[in-house]
This record gives sequence, C-alpha cells and structure tokens, in this order.
Amino acid sequence: MEAILLVGGQGTRLRPLTISTPKPLLPTAGVAFLAHQLARAHAAGVDRIVFATSYRAEMFEAAFGSHAYGVDLAYVSERRPLGTAGAIRNAAKALTCSSNEPVLILNGDILSGHDVTAQVSVHEKAGAAVTLHLVEVEDPSRFGCVPTDADGRVTAFLEKTNHPVTDQINAGCYVFRRDAIDTIPEDEVVSVERETFPGLISSGAVVMGYVESGYWLDVGTPQAFVRGSCDLVLGRIASAAMPGDPGERLILDGAVVSPRAVVRDGTTVGRGAEIEAGATVLGSVLQDGAFVAEGATVRDSVVGRGARVGPGATLDGVILGDGALVGPGNELRDGLRLWPGIALPPTAVRFSTDA
Ligand code: GTP
Repeated sequence: MEAILLVGGQGTRLRPLTISTPKPLLPTAGVAFLAHQLARAHAAGVDRIVFATSYRAEMFEAAFGSHAYGVDLAYVSERRPLGTAGAIRNAAKALTCSSNEPVLILNGDILSGHDVTAQVSVHEKAGAAVTLHLVEVEDPSRFGCVPTDADGRVTAFLEKTNHPVTDQINAGCYVFRRDAIDTIPEDEVVSVERETFPGLISSGAVVMGYVESGYWLDVGTPQAFVRGSCDLVLGRIASAAMPGDPGERLILDGAVVSPRAVVRDGTTVGRGAEIEAGATVLGSVLQDGAFVAEGATVRDSVVGRGARVGPGATLDGVILGDGALVGPGNELRDGLRLWPGIALPPTAVRFSTDA
C-alpha cells in the first residue's frame, strides 16, 4: 500500500523548537518524530510513502533519503502551503497505484497505536470513498466532533461546541480511495476537515468512521510533544525506531549523566548532553549538547540543543530554545518559552550547593 504523509505545516505551537527544525523532524525518543511513524507504517504494510512538504521542505529528504525503515520514499513540495487537502491532491501526482486502490494519509504529528489494517478492511468492505480513524476522547468540546450512524457511516463534521453530540473526534489518519483524491481541486488551498469531508458527505459519497481508542496523541503542543517522547521511552507505545529498550530513561551516545543525578519518567538525554550531580530531570527531553548543572530541577520540559540550565535553577513545563541559558537560581514554569540564544542572568539570591 502507498501512503501520503502530511509534513508541510509550520508547527507554530511548538516554536521556538520549530524555528530551526520542522515539527515532524524534532528529536523524539532519540530519533526524528517521523522515524516512529515510518516504522509503524511499514509494520502496517505500507511500502511507499510520498511526503507532502512545504515548510523547510529540503530538510526531509536530507533526513531520510529514498528509503528508510523499510519504506521507499518520494518527496513533493508545494510552491505555497496548500492546506491539508490541497497538499494531499498535490502529493497524489507521485502515487503509482490504480484508481480504486486504498491510499493511507497520515498527519505528520500523530502518534497512534491503532490497527491500520483493520481500518483499511472497514474501508474496503464498505466500498468507501474515505475512511477516517476516529478516537473517543474525554473532553470532545476542545475538538470538532464526528458522529457516525449505526453502520459506522460518518453523518457530519461538526465544529467545536460546548455541547458535542458525540465524543468521537477525527484522529488524523485517513484511507482514501485513490480516485476520491481527484475530487479535491488542484492547486488551491483546501482543508480536509472544513471542505473535503463535509463536501463528500453532502454529495452522497460513502465516508466511514473506524473507531478505535487505543494509544493516540497529537504532539502539536509543547506539553503533548514532551508526553509523546516520554511515552515512547517508557514503552507506553511500542516503536521499532527507538534506539534502545524501553525504560525510565534513554541516554544517547556521548551523554554524561552523574550517578548522583535523578533522571527518570521517560526522559531522553541527547548526544553529548550532560547532567551534573544533584540535578533532577523528570519526564523531559534534553536535546543534543544540553547541560543541566548541579542542583537544578527540570520537569516536563524540553531543553534545546546546547541550551544550559544553571545550578539550582528550576524548569517546569518550559521550552528552552537552542543555545538558551538559564542562570543559577532562576525558576521558570507553566508554558514559558525562551527563544534561541536568550540568556537569563543569575537570580540575586545566591545559590549554594551546601544548603
Ligand atoms: P501548528 O502551526 O502548531 O498548528 O502546526 P501545523 O502547522 O503542523 O498544523 P496542523 O497541526 O494543523 O497540521 C496537521 C498536519 O498537516 C501536520 O502534519 C502538518 O505538517 C500538515 N500540514 C498542515 N498544513 C499543511 C500544508 O499547507 N501543506 C502540507 N504539505 N502539510 C500541511
């Protein structure tokens, strides 16, 4: 089976990490996020993937070349971002399958343990134009919701509301019959959720929902990104692409971690990164060359490439851009982000390791 992988978004919610690296290429449990998706797609029987690129397009081919994780790869770039459906239409130029075959469409920021083979089988049995993976969530009011009838056929695409009629939401993985992609207008900005799916439904096409609520995470926000990385390290979702066995921590080559530091809850310590004695790092991502000094505490945070956390400083739910510096004793919390290269001076209260 062939697939199209949507990877052209700017990843604005993950800035400043996405200034230098597109979201799908951010290091996640030791490898680019997409590596986990490629390995999972291969396991589901996908043998060729077309990347739909736009933002920093050249970085994808440089990262994966023409074959990776058992899958042949092709790249199609948009001259201007065409939105999710426009990107599918544009990338379909590079598909080789025939008009009635299924094509898997994956969002480049979803970590999902669902059974793709079962989704394809629902699609084929129903002779559907499109079959969407749907997940049930506790609070559907934060998303648009997708009701289905007794046969599993999608009846509507509803905008966000405080009173959703179902807890099913679009999980961002679709099976399109190849010729259904050709109903999307060419070279126009089009959204699958706002235009393509509602349009197919109102034209009477069969749009099916495949409901499976196993492990599913959209890693588009800083909090979710950190959680996804830690879940992979902890083995809450299996990935053949992870360099190492699941456990409390993943320590990459050349990293130096003091035996007197506490590092757990799925933390990744990047290549050449260093954690000093008395530091505590919980459920976080330290990118290559990051440094956490003695007595510092880092929790639920990302420390960018070469960024430094000074002695006794605290980070909780924070993103440090590449090369940022947090001086001794500072306390940063709750979604704060430091842009690359910013340096916070030490706090006036002197930090003492003897305390
Ligand atoms: P935010 O800016 O933080 O919302 O992230 P994003 O740019 O990734 O947008 P969003 O999460 O809505 O995108 C869902 C998926 O579609 C991601 O995998 C994006 O890379 C991809 N995507 C979004 N817009 C485009 C586009 O115009 N072209 C292409 N090729 N992919 C897109």
